Amino acid sequence: MDSKRGAFVSLEGPDGSGKTTHMGFLCEALRERGYRVIETRQPGGSPTAEVIRKAVLGTELNEPMDAVTEAMLYAASRRQVLKSVIEPGLAAGAVIVSDRWADSSFAYQGWARGIMKEFVAIRDVAHKDFWPDVTVFFDVTLEESLARMAGRVKDYNRLNNEALAFRKRCFEGYQSLISGDVSERMVIVDSMRTIAEIQQSIHKYLDGEFAEKFGHLRTYPR
Ligand code: TYD
Repeated sequence: MDSKRGAFVSLEGPDGSGKTTHMGFLCEALRERGYRVIETRQPGGSPTAEVIRKAVLGTELNEPMDAVTEAMLYAASRRQVLKSVIEPGLAAGAVIVSDRWADSSFAYQGWARGIMKEFVAIRDVAHKDFWPDVTVFFDVTLEESLARMAGRVKDYNRLNNEALAFRKRCFEGYQSLISGDVSERMVIVDSMRTIAEIQQSIHKYLDGEFAEKFGHLRTYPR
């Protein structure tokens, strides 16, 4: 491994999987161990990509968004952040942690919107052969993710059946991904456990497998 290159870590999981809660904890735990950490997110993560985020997730635009347009916007956001944040960060030996990356598009656009062929073609234009070194996947059951979201979003009950069907498809997309041929970069976290238990397993992972692979990136020994 090139000792000057950093590491790219993506966090994935369905809405309500606890991913965003654990993002802050993971970054702090990395910093405590002496890694230089850059936190970013998708969509968004740079001035241009944040404008794309507004277009793709905002509610101001009164027009249904075409699925392929949507996939291209997510990919454009990733491409921009790759060039302006990730590549310079990797060259400087940082650990870049991204709240979501292309696996989200695999699940939400490719799988759930049924445009897998288009998604793969678009992803190839945006960042062919660029993959996270590690993807931490927060695994929960569909029921649990829906229950956690119901607690979070006040008007959840007004979501129609189509919205529920869409969430089910996103969930299936992720399940197909984690049971597929990506096991080498995937770290599956059982997110049905308590926050304390999950944090414990994050510590254990960082001191074990992660340190073996990326310990040379620490700016000071622990
Ligand atoms: P966000 O507020 O970041 O939610 P979370 O905290 O759950 O990550 O919103 C991201 C939303 O965008 C989320 O519902 C998933 C969706 N999304 C896609 O559909 N495709 C993508 O490629 C990405 C990155 C996100």
